[in-house]
Amino acid sequence: MLILLHLTFMIAAALCLLAGVGIAMFGRKKRTWLKMHKNLNTAGFSLLAAGGVAVFAHVTASGGDHLAAPHAWFGASAALLAALTFFLGYYSLRAANKQAVRAVHRWSGRLALTAILGTLALGLSMIGIL
Ligand code: HEM
Ligand code: HEM
Repeated sequence: MLILLHLTFMIAAALCLLAGVGIAMFGRKKRTWLKMHKNLNTAGFSLLAAGGVAVFAHVTASGGDHLAAPHAWFGASAALLAALTFFLGYYSLRAANKQAVRAVHRWSGRLALTAILGTLALGLSMIGIL
């Protein structure tokens, strides 16, 4: 049951983050791009955190070892990168050195999304879907 929640939350998270980053990369002509980027990525990051809690509870309840396989290592790194990016996104709105913070946010964001999609592909191949 918890693993189904993990699967569902993570697919929904990846879709939100993909749309949110897509808007920042290709939709900046729209006046509302930042609002959409912020909302979609806030939703995506919350779903990612919920999916993380679900799988942590699943592994604990089934008595398995945490962080025991490549999917788990990639997933944990992806989640940490996403957390850093999320923090930097909000921080960049008020930081004194906006330009530097945004440059790091752009690169950590691109890396986080790549790691999330890679982890998703590994997860789906673990259950025979990919
Ligand atoms: C954005 C995508 C995903 C992320 C960031 C992610 C992250 C993680 C993390 C961090 C763990 C390790 C948990 C721990 O050791 O306590 C894990 C385990 C796992 N994930 Fe994912 N995951 C993702 C997508 C998926 C998908 C699509 C599936 C397919 C069902 C999946 C299936 C699993 C399974 C089976 C485990 C191992 C549970 C166990 O050891 O019993 N994951 N995931
Ligand atoms: C985990 C969530 C997030 C991810 C993965 C992410 C990712 C990205 C990426 C990849 C870019 C650069 C797009 C490009 O031009 O190639 C970007 C730009 C930007 N993001 Fe985010 N973002 C996230 C959350 C946020 C949040 C919550 C905010 C604000 C509250 C924010 C504010 C910005 C701003 C202001 C830019 C423009 C930076 C610039 O070009 O100078 N982001 N984001």
